[in-house]
Amino acid sequence: MSDPHVAIVGATGAVGHEFLRVLEERAFPLRSLKLLASERSAGRRLPFRGEDHVVEALADDSFRGIDVAFFSAGGGTAKAYARLASDCGAVVIDNSSAFRLVDGVPLVVPEVNAEAIAGHDGILANPNCSTILLVLALAPLQRRCGLTRVVVSTYQAASGAGQRAVAELRSATRAVLADEPPPTAAALPQTLAFNVFPHVDVFMADGYTREEDKMLYEVRKILAMPELRVDATCVRVPVERCHSESVAVELERALSPTEARALFAGAPGVVLQDDPHGNDYPMPRAYSGKDPVAVGRVRQGRVFEPGLTFWLVGDQLKKGAALNAVQIAEAL
Ligand SMILES: NC(=O)c1ccc[n+]([C@@H]2O[C@H](COP(=O)([O-])OP(=O)(O)OC[C@H]3O[C@@H](n4cnc5c(N)ncnc54)[C@H](OP(=O)(O)O)[C@@H]3O)[C@@H](O)[C@H]2O)c1
Repeated sequence: MSDPHVAIVGATGAVGHEFLRVLEERAFPLRSLKLLASERSAGRRLPFRGEDHVVEALADDSFRGIDVAFFSAGGGTAKAYARLASDCGAVVIDNSSAFRLVDGVPLVVPEVNAEAIAGHDGILANPNCSTILLVLALAPLQRRCGLTRVVVSTYQAASGAGQRAVAELRSATRAVLADEPPPTAAALPQTLAFNVFPHVDVFMADGYTREEDKMLYEVRKILAMPELRVDATCVRVPVERCHSESVAVELERALSPTEARALFAGAPGVVLQDDPHGNDYPMPRAYSGKDPVAVGRVRQGRVFEPGLTFWLVGDQLKKGAALNAVQIAEAL
């Protein structure tokens, strides 16, 4: 598939904008680009490679002549249109959770399981953003010394909940700084200004959230480890962009922190930034707009034996969404 005709569904959203940036940055060899969103955005113009492109309302005939369709418009839109797009001949790469756990749909992080791409039947799924960042660090550990248990807490940026959540964080922050009551939260479940809350996506019957379930089941599928134990607590923090994660792993065979640092430093898609005594560790501001996941604060774990504890940061709009999907398309 060379020089494909490309469509972006959800082009006006947070991930959609990132798709435009990533396709430009990587000089993705496309022949044409169609921008699709809801009726609300029809007629809007978005710049790409120096030219304005008009956004069209998504419709049944949107995918005629399209070779690659990047979907980032939520699960409902993916369920309604992805199969239709693939029936028209497009390969769909979907950012929603609609197809991630469906048997036969590859769930891909190219640095980790690129071999899964070949098995697609027209639809491929991009994993959840926190999951993508996590598996980039887990995969080299799994390969080197085996992995048995993972405990992870996330520190997720507002943009992970879309553009409206970023606008809400900004307006609530302005209100609090002006000693005014912040507007009632709508895009997020609580006011995020000067606050954190352990609530990303909806709560399930067992007290975990759907985001925490995604991390468990998606990590298992990507690493092909159906028995792996993953206990996640997902937390929203008042950061605009980039998710962070605190990770503790139990390994099958011991690995010293020094060996682990060398392993992370050489792992694809990962950079090591680990000099805590020099106040040098990954932070969201430094990795906004960057490709790799940064790992730091690598240390011997105090609970798991043998085990390691570490910190990671990655741009969830870029590697956690648009970049990962574009890398899948490049592999195709
Ligand atoms: N934000 C992240 O960090 C992130 C990371 C990984 C995956 N994802 C996933 O990516 C998807 C998009 O997230 P986002 O953060 O970009 O959300 P967003 O900023 O709210 O954007 C949503 C996009 O979907 C479009 N859309 C909504 N309903 C539609 C419909 N019925 N028909 C056509 N287009 C429709 C919107 O168009 P209008 O502008 O016309 O409303 C907009 O372009 C979600 O599935 C999300 O779970 C997000």
